[in-house]
Amino acid sequence: MTTAIELAYLFATGLFVLSLHWMGDPKTARRGVHAGMLAMLVAVLATWAKPEVSHHSDFVRHAWVIIPIGLAIWPGIWLSLVPITAVPQRTALSHAFGGLAAGLVGTAEYFHLLSANPAALTPFMMTAIVAEIILGYLTFTGSIIAAAKLQEVKWIPQRPWVYPGQNVVNLIALGVAIVLGALLIFNPNAGWAPYAFCGVIFLALNFGWMLVMPIGGADMPTVIAILNSYAGLSAVAMGFVLDNKLLITAGALDGSSGLILSIIMCKAMNRSFANVLFGAFGQVQQKAAGGEQKAYKPETPEGAGQILEQASSVVIVPGYGLAVAQAQHKVRELYDQLKKRGITVRFAIHPVAGRMPGHMNVLLAEAEIPYDDLVEMEEINSDMPQCDVCIVLGANDVVNPAARFDKTSPIYGMPIIDADRARTVFAVKRSKNPGFAGIDNDLYFLDKTFMLFGDAKAVVGELVKALSPSAGH
Ligand code: TAP
Repeated sequence: MTTAIELAYLFATGLFVLSLHWMGDPKTARRGVHAGMLAMLVAVLATWAKPEVSHHSDFVRHAWVIIPIGLAIWPGIWLSLVPITAVPQRTALSHAFGGLAAGLVGTAEYFHLLSANPAALTPFMMTAIVAEIILGYLTFTGSIIAAAKLQEVKWIPQRPWVYPGQNVVNLIALGVAIVLGALLIFNPNAGWAPYAFCGVIFLALNFGWMLVMPIGGADMPTVIAILNSYAGLSAVAMGFVLDNKLLITAGALDGSSGLILSIIMCKAMNRSFANVLFGAFGQVQQKAAGGEQKAYKPETPEGAGQILEQASSVVIVPGYGLAVAQAQHKVRELYDQLKKRGITVRFAIHPVAGRMPGHMNVLLAEAEIPYDDLVEMEEINSDMPQCDVCIVLGANDVVNPAARFDKTSPIYGMPIIDADRARTVFAVKRSKNPGFAGIDNDLYFLDKTFMLFGDAKAVVGELVKALSPSAGH
């Protein structure tokens, strides 16, 4: 039986690795998701089969597995049904639960061993338990705040919540938790140890929310990826505590992928980790947004349709507004109409367009737009001067030329899609409001830019109508 369980663990580990590999490409992403689901199912069943988890004849021990799974399925189903725009906060909630689970397992294991087998609380075991509870509990409260900010709930400010000396207070809270944890590692059985243990939990719970409150809403996706890596590391520690190799490898994969993802996001925004975590990004922009009013040139869908018909190359830059409007299927119709006329149509994909990595790829894949027409930023930028019409569809920050030249801009240095280098630009958005970074966008005021104000789905629908044969063009 033990060999079968070890083999099942090995199989699940291999599937987890393949799952991550397949998820790196839109063509194989679905297979990656299925492989991850199968790996998790095998992992749960193999762990359930372990003799120390459930003796086969002992119904009560089986019930301790069946009842929690039966209860946990429902919030899981509910979380899986959220709209795609809510996936970042859904992910944050998953991390919160993961962190809480790790923290609770570490707490239970410490108090169980303290009474049942104190000799087992070796410095190695205590190091793993302390790491598990600090990372687990801080991930729990940090992720709850991240989810609340992304959901824009009223009781949490979107803008960074800052006060003088905040970083010092936060670092002191973490420092005291680490010092208490270090004392516990060498004195797990001392009379004061259980109190110190509860003190570490209290400090870790508080450090989590205090760490995330000063970070602005726009940086939450990056914070989620960082919290993802903390949750993974706490699972690694839990694997050492429970002597479970699968938890160690799965946690390490989770932790490292979260870290890599946050590095990719920081690079795509030209920001450092320190700047995301301690930069209170989102404060300066509020001021900058209230600047002088410049004039927009509105255009009608019919007028835009006539110009589009003359184009031979069209680039569509999708952004967060595409997700809000759920305009992907209308975009597919526009794509078909343009292709019918022999026009080259490509989609320029910015790595941080939308609110989560791969956001635009997922939406466009849903509308079955061929992957070959989704082009990465670096690749499409050299072609932008030859592009006849660029349609900026609910995107803002990722096409803001201020990132290239305005050293005072909060997005200065962020690589952008060179929409302003196209011959003509149509920008689709509902109002004159800024994007997530909260700053004006000079692209909208260029001579070559025309605004198509309105909801992306409605405007693209009008464009399709204007281009359809019955419109008489
Ligand atoms: P944004 O800069 O947020 O701009 C989105 C635009 O869409 C807004 O200007 C908004 O204008 C418009 N919009 C919203 N709903 C719409 C609708 N229903 N129809 C039409 N337009 C609509 O988006 P972006 O260009 O995709 O940039 C992403 C931002 O998020 C960047 O600042 C990036 O750094 C940040 N961020 C992203 C990530 C990831 S991983 N994607 C991670 C961290 C941070 P109106 O309100 O006027 O309509």
